[in-house]
Amino acid sequence: MSARRPAAVIVLAAGEGTRMKSRRSKVLHELCGRSMVGHVLAAAGELEPERLIVVVGHRREQVIEHLAEHAPDAEPVVQERQGGTGHAVRTVLERTGALAGTVVVTNGDHPLLRGATLAELVRTHEDEGNAATVLTTEVPDPTGYGRILRGPDGAVTAIVEHKDADDAQRAVHEINVGMYAFDGKLLAAALRQVTTDNAGGEEYLTDVPAILRAQGDRVGAHTVPDWVETQGVNDRVQLAQARRLLNERILLDHMRAGVTVVDPATTWVDVQVTVEPDVVLHPNTQLHGRTRLEEGAEVGPNATLTDTSVGAGAVVTNAVTVEAEIGPEASVGPYAYLRPGTVLAHKAKAGSYVELKNAVVGQGSKVPHLTYVGDAEIGQGSNVGAGSVFVNYDGVDKHRSVVGDHVKIGSDNMIVAPVTIGDGAYTAAGSVIVNDVPPGAMAVARGRQHNIPGWVERKRAGTPAAQAARRANDEAEQRPGPGES
Ligand code: UD1
Ligand code: CA
Repeated sequence: MSARRPAAVIVLAAGEGTRMKSRRSKVLHELCGRSMVGHVLAAAGELEPERLIVVVGHRREQVIEHLAEHAPDAEPVVQERQGGTGHAVRTVLERTGALAGTVVVTNGDHPLLRGATLAELVRTHEDEGNAATVLTTEVPDPTGYGRILRGPDGAVTAIVEHKDADDAQRAVHEINVGMYAFDGKLLAAALRQVTTDNAGGEEYLTDVPAILRAQGDRVGAHTVPDWVETQGVNDRVQLAQARRLLNERILLDHMRAGVTVVDPATTWVDVQVTVEPDVVLHPNTQLHGRTRLEEGAEVGPNATLTDTSVGAGAVVTNAVTVEAEIGPEASVGPYAYLRPGTVLAHKAKAGSYVELKNAVVGQGSKVPHLTYVGDAEIGQGSNVGAGSVFVNYDGVDKHRSVVGDHVKIGSDNMIVAPVTIGDGAYTAAGSVIVNDVPPGAMAVARGRQHNIPGWVERKRAGTPAAQAARRANDEAEQRPGPGES
């Protein structure tokens, strides 16, 4: 990190972003669990600036609301009309007054840029005692970018925008990334000299280096070796490319820290997810939000986890989980849906075609097949039979059920809340449980079976069923009875 905290970082995010073709502000489009401007602010935040300022203009209500929610430290400054990047910074400095010390300016549409790179930019700037330091890189195709012009001694003399460049200048592959460190006082003075006399008819921030140099101030450059990190996003094609690059970076970090990623091409992990060593991520796994996986957990294939915690050694296969807590050595899926408020304790199981919501399943308890458990608490060592439903909704209100320890709920039960089933109780298959069951009782809540002999032969005479019944009855009659030979 830099020796001193910069006086400010100014993030430029007022532009229209026409090429996104969106109702949403360009900088609010998301990748890897954060908005584009959120990534830029996270990188900027690593510098611990005295002030973090975001210039807003187009769709400013959306951006201001987003900042209030996700980056409350950031101060929005409105640029009423988008008069160019120089105009944007001038608008800020007219609001704040000239800022003493280092002022970093960065475009808002570069989500791949690392905080460490911004810190190096600031360090170069301060070590060299520059008035301005420009972040540059060499790209294979510089079309559209501002080109870096250097003098015979290699020093930066100016930045020329693509639109304004001649053929010789366009042949330059070293570009202006769109990040700068300035001396705040000199920046404010230089911006007053910037004109709109150019192909874009805008006040270019990129005119500042030449203005400073002309008055004898030092202008330097900090060059990033890996140009990929400097890529901007102007349309949804570049957004998808940036998302894949950022995801690759996230996965590499996890793999280097001891996580097995079986198929990086189909595994997507958001920036704020934490994964401990010896976790295995199988193909088609998506980890979103603040999901947290503990040591040795195994997730996927085909799992999408959002804001979910998974305990050590748990296994989650073919599942969708949202705001769920999966305990150590618990097992989920295949084909399970865990909704908010689900808590599976140590070694608990939510099996195939099982949906849980706002439900606690105690240690070692199992909900193995075809079951919905909503608004319930199940104790330890209990089992819920296949095809059961915790009937939690009476059409107006939701109610809660409580199941004790070592309870065996039979298959195809309806547990009609609110109801309490005591420790060690059993319920018979096919029961509709509407009343509490005392500990240790067997609850039978279904019609008693009653057979009508000969009904099929009388009422369905001549059908294959009647014929089959006839044969079975004849064979039974011919069989020797007890004691006969
Ligand atoms: C800018 C640079 C160019 C550089 C490129 C890198 C200028 C004049 N040119 O060009 O040298 O190679 O970035 O991507 O700066 N913005 C405002 N207010 C405005 C205009 C723009 O806030 O009035 C914001 C935009 O939202 C965007 C950033 O500034 O985040 C850059 O603006 P953009 O129009 O995209 O500049 P480029 O043409 O990409
Ligand atoms: Ca741009």
